[in-house]
Amino acid sequence: MSLAKIFQEHPNRRYIEFGGKGGLGKTTFSAATAYWLAKKGYKVLVFSVDPQASLSDIFQQDIFGKGAVEIMPNLFAQEIDADQHIREYQEEIRQKIRDMYGMDEIPEEIENYIQATAAEPAMEESAIFDAVVDIVVGAEYDYYIYDLVPLGHALYYLSMASVYDQWIEKITALRQEMQEYAQVAAVLERKKDTEEDQILAELQYIKNRINTSSGILTDREKTAFFFVVTPEEMIILDTQKAASLFAKYDVPICGYIVNRVIPPKLAQQEIPEYRRHRIEMQDKYLAKIDETFGGDVLTRVPEFERDITGLEMIGKVADALFGGDA
Ligand SMILES: Nc1ncnc2c1ncn2[C@@H]1O[C@H](COP(=O)(O)OP(=O)(O)OP(=O)(O)O)[C@@H](O)[C@H]1O
Ligand SMILES: [Mg+2]
Repeated sequence: MSLAKIFQEHPNRRYIEFGGKGGLGKTTFSAATAYWLAKKGYKVLVFSVDPQASLSDIFQQDIFGKGAVEIMPNLFAQEIDADQHIREYQEEIRQKIRDMYGMDEIPEEIENYIQATAAEPAMEESAIFDAVVDIVVGAEYDYYIYDLVPLGHALYYLSMASVYDQWIEKITALRQEMQEYAQVAAVLERKKDTEEDQILAELQYIKNRINTSSGILTDREKTAFFFVVTPEEMIILDTQKAASLFAKYDVPICGYIVNRVIPPKLAQQEIPEYRRHRIEMQDKYLAKIDETFGGDVLTRVPEFERDITGLEMIGKVADALFGGDA
């Protein structure tokens, strides 16, 4: 099974994710896959929540916090700026307070409170989460490629979705119960609507969004998740551990891509001893990867002569990933 084949055989898998430890090539493969699909005529969005702005780096264009930016025909890239979203939240809250109390200025005490909550890490997480939900529930693109943050963090997001979900479920159930009482009370008092209705509606809206997004991202029919590995001992071990954790969260793992493989023909040339040694070690770990992940190993991508930046290099990686079928 090759990577290109998975795309051909599963045309409904329109959400593509590359996961793996830090620095192995997730962003590189996300960009290359986006490039390959765009060249095939699909409208593609590659997006990231990484504050490091690595899509800006690879596409050599500042796109951070600028929404979806067209990189080339059919290829759009977006980097979410969490801070910007938090500022928007804050402004929303201020506006609500102004409207509700007919104020022109936010009292200092309340403003301090707004500032303090924005500094909470949970606020950033929730802003990011919200932005991702906005993207994945949209239907503007043929493909959505989620350039994930390193493993531990990606797991954190996944677990957060399920924690959020459970939490909201509980509150919603509680609200529902309360609403039944409230309705009885309202009938008795001949009132029509209750404030609870609004809160409940809001909670159900949030729950729906979370379910839709985590549903999409873990749906075997719609999503393909690929692990990036390199031929190194620790990476293989960590990937194995992560894969079993991811499986617990129903992440539909479609295969493994081996990156940074030193071309074997190099070994036949005159090369320094340490290089030769590295190539020998690599052979050992490539065998280990095949043994560990078996038929799920989709392809090997060579080590290139320099970092991958710019569309020309991205195109070369796409050729290596998809077998030159561009
Ligand atoms: N096959 C390759 N040949 C040469 N350089 C590569 C190759 N794959 C990746 N790189 C380089 O390695 C670095 C890390 O790659 P990349 O940014 O894609 O990793 P990442 O998994 O997204 O990292 P992070 O976990 O920080 O998001 C980049 O400078 C990239 O250009
Ligand atoms: Mg990256």
